[in-house]
Amino acid sequence: MTATLTRPLTVTEAIESRRSIRKFVPEPMDQNDLREILRLASLAPSANNVQTWRFAVIQNPELQAKLQEVAYGQTQVTNAPAVIVVYSDMEDTLASAEETIHPGMGEEQITTRAAGLRGQFEAQDTVQRGQWALTQAYIAFSFLMLAARGKGYDTVPMLGFQPDKVRELLGLPEHVQFAGMLPIGKRAEEGFPHHRHSVERITKFY
Ligand SMILES: Cc1cc2nc3c(=O)[nH]c(=O)nc-3n(C[C@H](O)[C@H](O)[C@H](O)COP(=O)(O)O)c2cc1C
Repeated sequence: MTATLTRPLTVTEAIESRRSIRKFVPEPMDQNDLREILRLASLAPSANNVQTWRFAVIQNPELQAKLQEVAYGQTQVTNAPAVIVVYSDMEDTLASAEETIHPGMGEEQITTRAAGLRGQFEAQDTVQRGQWALTQAYIAFSFLMLAARGKGYDTVPMLGFQPDKVRELLGLPEHVQFAGMLPIGKRAEEGFPHHRHSVERITKFY
């Protein structure tokens, strides 16, 4: 699984072969692959196409060392060539709502719909609407993991970090909420085999 891929993995292959990987080959990310993985993740769906997710890509050993400190010393944060922090920014989403409405709608519709979206959330405080935005960002987070695997990369999703400290280190505003941190690179270990509930255990068929 560490060999360079000659073709992208199918969705099934990507899902089956994804495992949390915490030891990575010490080589920088191919920057074209990194951009393509981010682009693929950005194709995730969201309510009204709001695209609340934002990515912070860290490829800087010094900053990674600081992130590791606020991630309870978890070594994968410095071991990986890159770390992608996925967060939602509902305030930016609302302020720039016009950008996410399809241009085919025409100017008048765009203005009306953007105002409608802002109106829908104005009664909520930033934490409440930030929570809603976060549910959308989780979808992009999943797409990101599978897009990475599909292109032969490995990741480990992480929530074991202090959000306030990460906001501070990355210079992010207080209202953003984190879907997770994702060290990414080529695997230098196999990870654990999947251990999951059976479909019967978690499903009711009606
Ligand atoms: C939301 C979330 C948070 C997680 N946080 C951490 C973490 O902080 N550190 C870590 O080593 N693994 C973390 N994991 C990885 C899980 O332990 C792992 O996904 C789970 O055991 C299943 O294993 P697999 O990913 O290899 O299939 C996290 C996973 C998810 C989905």
